Amino acid sequence: MTPCAGLIVGLIAVLAAGFFLLKKYYEKKIREKDKLVKEVEAQLIQTEKMASVGTLAAGIAHEINNPLSFLISNLDAMANYVQSLSKEPSLDAGLRKTLLEDFRPMATESLEGALRIKKIVSDLRTFSRRSETKKVLLDINQILESTLSIVWNEIKYKITVVKDYQAKSSIPADPTQLSQVLLNIVLNASQAISDKGTITLATSEDEKNVCVKISDTGSGIPKEVLPKIFDPFFSTKKAGAGLGLSVSYNIIKQHAGDLKVESAPGRGTVFTITLPKKSGENKTQ
Ligand SMILES: Nc1ncnc2c1ncn2[C@@H]1O[C@H](COP(=O)(O)OP(=O)(O)O)[C@@H](O)[C@H]1O
Ligand SMILES: [Mg+2]
Repeated sequence: MTPCAGLIVGLIAVLAAGFFLLKKYYEKKIREKDKLVKEVEAQLIQTEKMASVGTLAAGIAHEINNPLSFLISNLDAMANYVQSLSKEPSLDAGLRKTLLEDFRPMATESLEGALRIKKIVSDLRTFSRRSETKKVLLDINQILESTLSIVWNEIKYKITVVKDYQAKSSIPADPTQLSQVLLNIVLNASQAISDKGTITLATSEDEKNVCVKISDTGSGIPKEVLPKIFDPFFSTKKAGAGLGLSVSYNIIKQHAGDLKVESAPGRGTVFTITLPKKSGENKTQ
C-alpha cells in the first residue's frame, strides 16, 4: 500500500469511528428525551386524574362535613349520658348491666367510626383544596423531627430510624401540609415493615432544590401496583382509605415540587420529595 493510500484508509477509519461515536451519542440523547417525554406524560395524566377527582372530592367532603359534625357531637353526648346514667343509684341492676356492656361500647365504637370518617373527609378536603397553601420559610429537618415525634410511640418497637440530615437551606412551604406528607409516607413505610426494619430519613440540597428521601426496608411494591399508588382511593390494605399518597402528591405539586417512588419488591421502597428553595422556581432537569 502506498503511503497515500494508507493515509486515506487511516482517515476513513478515523471518520468511521467518529461517526460511530456520534451515532451512539445521539442515540443516547434520544433515549434520554424519550424517557423525559414519558415521565412528563405520566405526570400530566396524574395531574388530570387529580383535578377531576379533586372536584368530586370537594363536593362530597362539603356535603358530608355538616351532618358528620352533629353526628359526632351527638354520639359524644350519648356516650357521656350512658356513662352518667349507669352511675344512677336507683337504676335497676339489669338495666345498668345493659347500659355498661351494650350501650357504652356501642356509643364509643360509633364515635370512633365517625371520627375515622372525619379524618377521611378532612383528607379529602386537603386533597381538593388548591389555593389555601400558606407558605412560610421552614427548616425541612425540623419538620421531619416533629413528624417523627408524632409517630414515635407507634413505631419505636419495630423500627430503627436512621437520620442523615444534610440540607441546610430553608424552603418556602406550608408546615401543616408538609408535615402531613411526611407523616403519610413515614406511616406507610412503617406499615410496610411487618416485623422489624429500618426507616432512613435523608435530606440534601443542590443549587435549586431541597430533597428528602424516605427509605424503608419493608415489603416493597410489586411492579403492577406501582403505577396506581398515587391514585385516590387506591389501597392494598384491609382498612386503608387510599388517600395518603394522593393527598401527598397533590400537596407537593402545589409546592411546585416533585414526589417520586422507587421500589424493589422484597427489599424496600424509597420516596423522594423534591422542593424548590425559592417560590415559583421549579425543580430539577
Ligand atoms: N412504603 C411503602 N411500602 C410498600 N407499599 C407502599 C408504601 N407506601 C405506599 N404503599 C402502597 O401504596 C398504597 C397507597 O398508599 P396510601 O395512599 O397511603 O393509602 P393507604 O395507606 O390508605 O393504603 C398502599 O396501600 C400500599 O399498597
Ligand atoms: Mg397511607
